[in-house]
Amino acid sequence: MKLPFAESWKIKMVEPITKSTREQREAWIKEAGYNVFQLRADQVYIDCLTDSGTGAMSDRQWAALMMGDESYAGARSFYELRDTIERITGFKYVIPTHQGRAAENVLFSALVHEGDYVPGNSHFDTTKGHIEFRKAFAVDCTIDDAKDTQKELPFKGNVDITKLEKVLEEHKDKIPFIIVTVTNNTAGGQPVSMQNLRDVRALADKYGKRVVLDSARFAENAYFIKTREEGYADKTIKEICKEMFDLADGMTMSAKKDGIVNMGGFIATRWEDWYEAAKAFVIPFEGYLTYGGMNGRDMAALAVGLDENTEFDNLDTRIHQLQLLASLLDEYGIPYQRPIGGHAVFVDALKVLPQIPKEQFPAQTLTIELYKEAGIRGCEIGYILADRDPVTRENRFGGNDFVRLCIPRRVYTDNHIRVIAAALKNVFDRRDEIKKGVEIVWEAELMRHFTVKLKPVE
Ligand code: F0G
Repeated sequence: MKLPFAESWKIKMVEPITKSTREQREAWIKEAGYNVFQLRADQVYIDCLTDSGTGAMSDRQWAALMMGDESYAGARSFYELRDTIERITGFKYVIPTHQGRAAENVLFSALVHEGDYVPGNSHFDTTKGHIEFRKAFAVDCTIDDAKDTQKELPFKGNVDITKLEKVLEEHKDKIPFIIVTVTNNTAGGQPVSMQNLRDVRALADKYGKRVVLDSARFAENAYFIKTREEGYADKTIKEICKEMFDLADGMTMSAKKDGIVNMGGFIATRWEDWYEAAKAFVIPFEGYLTYGGMNGRDMAALAVGLDENTEFDNLDTRIHQLQLLASLLDEYGIPYQRPIGGHAVFVDALKVLPQIPKEQFPAQTLTIELYKEAGIRGCEIGYILADRDPVTRENRFGGNDFVRLCIPRRVYTDNHIRVIAAALKNVFDRRDEIKKGVEIVWEAELMRHFTVKLKPVE
């Protein structure tokens, strides 16, 4: 008999989680203004809010914490981290920061100026925020197919090369760099192919531009290249990562994802001029060059995490869990962004709750229903998150309306995954009984989803 698939690790420490009753959850979510960000974590049974900073470190990472060097300048832990990053990416200049958005803040302070254009594939919110904050424009050049949730493509996170060339042609003097997000979080954790990275490189060279990889989930991207792209099956994840970064000039990194640490990030680049320019901003914003925003112990744990998570078995364990979730949703007929991506399932709320008008926020409604059903916390990546148009102040209803259920790394077992799928099925089976959505009582002007207060439509 062929042995079944199993995890590439065993469990040394556990953290109890608590169940609650539906009555309790109904009271808690009401108190939270029907906003899952306002819940206490103790009111959640299975937390799928994000895969960012929520992973479980290995025994080797915990051991590395004890070996951390907290020297203000020149800490050994910094050099361990720098050497690991250089080995994996080939980038020799490294600046630690406290998380991914801080890396964006430091690098973009040096490179992005008013009136610039930064083309890319579905810039993450903070990336876009840091571009727009500098009165520059983030131009989304993602392939159109990414919008069609039911279309199965191996690399749905790709950059549309024709769209990119148009931006390069129109704004050639105003483009500080091209940014490619791997995997493409906003489009559903969808990977970018090596061929696409090669095509971006060729265009960048043609126009004399540099390329930054927003690398939060670069290892998961490499896994998909290995398993889906011709010619990569026999390469190691580390070889594939090296090839990806060979096609770029630098990276911003949220280490809270594929670095498997709870906090941390960095900038890395092959160019001394970028390093010199960024140095001027890291010291006032983050900290001295050899710690930026990080503790020595956290840099030590990150060095180990990066090494572990660029090994096939660790990634294979993770992606198998996502694929288990996808296979259960397929069995139950629940529509999601297909195929499932690297870190989350993005449920297509417009297809689940077509009776709920856009103005009543279908994905948020479904997020609340799922929480009430089983204490599972997902989050809306949809119309509330999209904020209002800055000029017209109208809601932006143009994109997809998803419920994102993220799977933290090495945290939940396959049994938890089955609970998530069953809870979704229960809500899905009674979807016709959900007649009304929610309305906004109070909202912030920007990034309203974190603090918005809602109430059920009467
Ligand atoms: N880039 C991508 C692709 C991200 O997904 C994130 C964070 C960041 C940059 C910013 O990094 O949080 O360390 O400052 N994504 C989290 C999420 C918050 O839930 O998807 P950060």
